[in-house]
Amino acid sequence: MANVTDTIIFPICNKSASNRVVLAPMTNTQSHLDGQLSNDERRWLTLRAKGGFGTIITAGAYVEETGKSWDGQIGIHNDVTASAYIPVIEDFREYNSLGILQLFHGGMRAKFDAKTNMSPSGGKNSRGDTIARAMSEKEIKDSIAAHVDAADRAQRVGFDGVEIHAAHGYLIHQFLSTATNNRTDEWGGKAENRNRFLINIIRGIRDRCGDDFLVGVRLSPEDANWFHGIDFDACIDLSCKLAEDEKADYLHISLWDAFKPADKYPHDGPAISHFKRNLPNHVPLITAGKIWSAKDADAVLSYGADMIALGRVAIAHPSWPNDYGEIDDYKPASPPFTKRYLNGVGLNNDFVAYMTKWKGFVSTAE
Ligand SMILES: Cc1cc2nc3c(=O)[nH]c(=O)nc-3n(C[C@H](O)[C@H](O)[C@H](O)COP(=O)(O)O)c2cc1C
Repeated sequence: MANVTDTIIFPICNKSASNRVVLAPMTNTQSHLDGQLSNDERRWLTLRAKGGFGTIITAGAYVEETGKSWDGQIGIHNDVTASAYIPVIEDFREYNSLGILQLFHGGMRAKFDAKTNMSPSGGKNSRGDTIARAMSEKEIKDSIAAHVDAADRAQRVGFDGVEIHAAHGYLIHQFLSTATNNRTDEWGGKAENRNRFLINIIRGIRDRCGDDFLVGVRLSPEDANWFHGIDFDACIDLSCKLAEDEKADYLHISLWDAFKPADKYPHDGPAISHFKRNLPNHVPLITAGKIWSAKDADAVLSYGADMIALGRVAIAHPSWPNDYGEIDDYKPASPPFTKRYLNGVGLNNDFVAYMTKWKGFVSTAE
């Protein structure tokens, strides 16, 4: 079993992280309307690098305009947005954190209208709040190229790697899912066809960026919230392919609750253990979901995860990894947090407002 403070080497790119703690990718709506990283979002990330996170994954950065899903979201769709990351990448180096940019496209969940929004088969998303048109063959190929170009830009400005966001009901997930992909051509139908969009993206990135660039993939292994149409075993099969044939440096399994069994195997122990048993041993597994205290982190590593990604606890406690090392049986304070406290840990008012949508996180008291 791994310890939180162990280093780890990613198998293809051969880069190493100084510990097993990852800042989970978190959209924080603090940047500029044209997708350039703002000083506020830089401060938010840098504070967490300084706090000891060995690996930092940025918020989802849209790879093309049609993928943008929130105001204040970062982009990587052109050279201007790419250059804006250079100062924060220097900060990551100063604090010895690996810097990974998350590649994102909202697909039918983007913020535009039915004419601009696109998805494999069109229609309403399962939450019913946005609608899209079906992508043409050319748009599919262009979008694959946009993901590859975005990774290339990330590499040129100095990121250590990228994470392909194939989870949470966004464009790539929409291709993988039987609920949102009912195409009858080579991009839909059987699993091999639904996986093709993702496989072409990772292949394209490896071809363009080479083996010494870190490439990870984030996947939703089963239905959660409003994201449907993913089968747990099919996700394991896809993960094996990504690790064995497509040179993924890690797999990031987004569980929302890292302690729970898979819905399909309720009596089989934690879902992450099931993954670990069925995946080639060389590929590091990251997971996230409700990890708060030192005990939680140790437990999830004991289930077989190689690294833990921290979301909400990292919002409130930017020095979580350093504090883990210094405080016995570290139990950071739980929500709710006041606005003033959150401002003090690097959240601007837009991010605090965004966090009020996460029930119970922001206190109504001043
Ligand atoms: C404010 C917020 C924004 C998020 N944005 C993203 C994102 O951009 N990309 C992504 O893959 N997951 C995103 N997530 C999910 C987190 O990465 C993480 O998987 C989830 O919060 C569960 O971890 P936790 O229980 O430690 O918060 C977001 C979560 C939060 C709370």
